Amino acid sequence: MESIKVHAPATVANVGCGYDTIGFALDGVYEEIIVSKRSDERLVLQSIEGADLSLDPEQNVATIAAKALLNHIGIKAGFDFQIKKFFRPGSGLGSSASSAAGAVYAVNQLLPNPLKTSELLPFALEGEAFASKCYHADNVAPSLLGGFIAIRSYDPLDYFALPIANELHVLIVRPSVEVKTSEAKGIVPKSLDIATARNQWGNLASLVHAMHMKNWSRLKASIQDFIAEPVRKSLIPGYEEVRTVAHDHECVGFNISGSGPSMFSLFTASESLEKAKREINVFYKQKGISCDFFTSRMSDVGCQIID
Ligand code: HSE
Repeated sequence: MESIKVHAPATVANVGCGYDTIGFALDGVYEEIIVSKRSDERLVLQSIEGADLSLDPEQNVATIAAKALLNHIGIKAGFDFQIKKFFRPGSGLGSSASSAAGAVYAVNQLLPNPLKTSELLPFALEGEAFASKCYHADNVAPSLLGGFIAIRSYDPLDYFALPIANELHVLIVRPSVEVKTSEAKGIVPKSLDIATARNQWGNLASLVHAMHMKNWSRLKASIQDFIAEPVRKSLIPGYEEVRTVAHDHECVGFNISGSGPSMFSLFTASESLEKAKREINVFYKQKGISCDFFTSRMSDVGCQIID
């Protein structure tokens, strides 16, 4: 095989109570990466559509992640990368994680002895860490592997999959402001008092149980964040109003997606999602703020070969 086209899904990280700890893959929202072998040993970014990003391979998450993989296995090989972004960086949907995951997945497929997909996670993490200035896997793990992933430990890296709820309808609301993960990380508190930490642990434990039991009222109660949401919501125009609409339409979970500005909302009925979406659309139109929507499901499919 000389060339490969891969889709790497967008992801919802944190899921309210799991800052840097949990995230799930979305269905139908993805980044496309075409990787082709070169005859020399260079990593070359041929094009990036859908985002104004550097083509310098030392400054791009895809090539940084690919280089980390090639260095690890000690193979001297060169590749061209063509990236098409169907969701913008700075959206809160894990754009840099999708690039990093898609790049290592595609390059690995073109190697003589490919590693297992799960073995690629540390290299995808290298790319993501460059973009967000922090080592966190809650986007990159579900984008690479699919599903709903919980990271128990970063050193050593230890993660596991929660059951996904593909019967739930996921509404993503993305007002058109950009929030850089590196900046949104900077405003999160550096320390917590024990009462706040206890509330957060309780919610996270409860969310895990809710996903196993498919108990959506418990899920709704658990998707509550005492760490990032209180400081980050001010970066998102209309956050409180959108949350109110989602709750008025009986969502079973609402919060910031990753570091925002996208917000996710979970519904058991697609009619409720559609009603909420219409109201939110009217709200942003009245405010003069443009806004995009994605309707999706949680997905157990991570990076996959398209051609
Ligand atoms: N867990 C990360 C954060 C996700 O909230 O900063 C964004 O990449």
